[in-house]
Amino acid sequence: MTDLNQKQERDQWGSKVGFIFAAAGSAVGLGNLWKFPYTAGQNGGGVFVFIYLALVLIIGFTLMMAELILGRTTQLGPVGAYRKLKEKWSWVGYIGVLASFLIVTFYSVIGGWILKYIVTAFQGGFNVTDVAILETTFTNFIGAPVEPLIYHGAFMLITLGIVMGGISGGIEKASKVLMPGLLIMMVVIMIRSMTLPGAMAGVEYLLKPDFTMLNMKVVLAALGQVFFSLSLGMGVIITYGSYLSKNENLVESSFYIPLLDTILALLSGLTILPAVFALGFDPAGGPGLLFITLPGVFAGMPFGSFFAILFFILVLFAAVTSSISLLEASVSLFVDEFKWNRKKATITLGVIAFLIGVPSSLANGPVMSDMTFINGMNFFDSMSFFAENLLLPLSGLLLAIFIGWIWGTDKAVEEATNSGQVKFGLAKAWAFIIKWVAPLGIGYIFFQSVLTLFS
Ligand code: PHE
Repeated sequence: MTDLNQKQERDQWGSKVGFIFAAAGSAVGLGNLWKFPYTAGQNGGGVFVFIYLALVLIIGFTLMMAELILGRTTQLGPVGAYRKLKEKWSWVGYIGVLASFLIVTFYSVIGGWILKYIVTAFQGGFNVTDVAILETTFTNFIGAPVEPLIYHGAFMLITLGIVMGGISGGIEKASKVLMPGLLIMMVVIMIRSMTLPGAMAGVEYLLKPDFTMLNMKVVLAALGQVFFSLSLGMGVIITYGSYLSKNENLVESSFYIPLLDTILALLSGLTILPAVFALGFDPAGGPGLLFITLPGVFAGMPFGSFFAILFFILVLFAAVTSSISLLEASVSLFVDEFKWNRKKATITLGVIAFLIGVPSSLANGPVMSDMTFINGMNFFDSMSFFAENLLLPLSGLLLAIFIGWIWGTDKAVEEATNSGQVKFGLAKAWAFIIKWVAPLGIGYIFFQSVLTLFS
């Protein structure tokens, strides 16, 4: 018996690593590398990071586990999973899928920017350290009417191509090399960035919370970022959970994925913000932060162009492993629920997503920058607000209510522990959070978010 267990554990371990890489591939992406640093920069730095970490700890881990449980117990995607457990709840699955679809429309626009920077890096275009010039180059590029659309289209094609073939084992294998590669690379660039003269101000800005800056906007941004970065509230993790085998240790998995994701976000923050301060750029500068400051860092580095090429390729890989999981969510819905064939579903949804992404791209330039949609925000920001600050919290809120009050935490814990075989010391705390803390906390923040619509 013992022998058998040991053998099983070893086998399990191998596959668990594969699973964690796949799920981490979905979680680690532009959310960590591009969005985290600039959102922190716009929301007071340290205070945002503090709230973010607190929310990951309380809400992130809990919901990650909840989604994995739901997926594994039903072996179905989000709509099917809710339906199987409670017929009337299947619509909740649709909210998440809608969110992931809306997100992929603008995710691909940013993915396009990364592609452009790879091309520029290959052309040796990063030998400028002057932030003013780097800034103009960037704003001119994203504000142009046509060029960013071509890159957006190219990024969508890559995503679509991979999703059409079915998520292949190749991606998983590549993940095992490229994800650690990204991690090492980030550490190298972080060290470089932190040793620039004046960089420590950035480190301090990011790590020393100034609680006088705390307000509802910061909390709202942090919660949206937690959902976005951990791929929560979109049914994506439910789907990943559905591929988990019954003897895998779900409790551990739901610990490692958020941990890895958070490490990458912090690394990115500690790379970009020190550079922002060292190069004299504005921390609240917005979505351009990564694109403006990092080329400046590379320019001043030995083998800078080489680092630039390698870095942007790794970022592209991280972005693609995320975008495929975003698009896959709606594709599998059409395949499973509406019986479309995979090819038709992928092409149709990919093309629609591209088209909806077009105004998001144009919002960065004269064509549409003056048109406002939600709360005076341009199209790009409105989409992001609608998906991340309304749909995701709503879906997370309903998930917590469903597990806490409808399906029951006892059944959930039973599933998480493989009927008592796996240790889950914090089961009681987890159940308490799912039942009370998450619904009340997320509910309150969601309510505040809705209120801003009327302010
Ligand atoms: N978590 C990904 C990122 O940080 C984005 C994503 C969200 C991917 C939801 C899949 C599902 O970039």
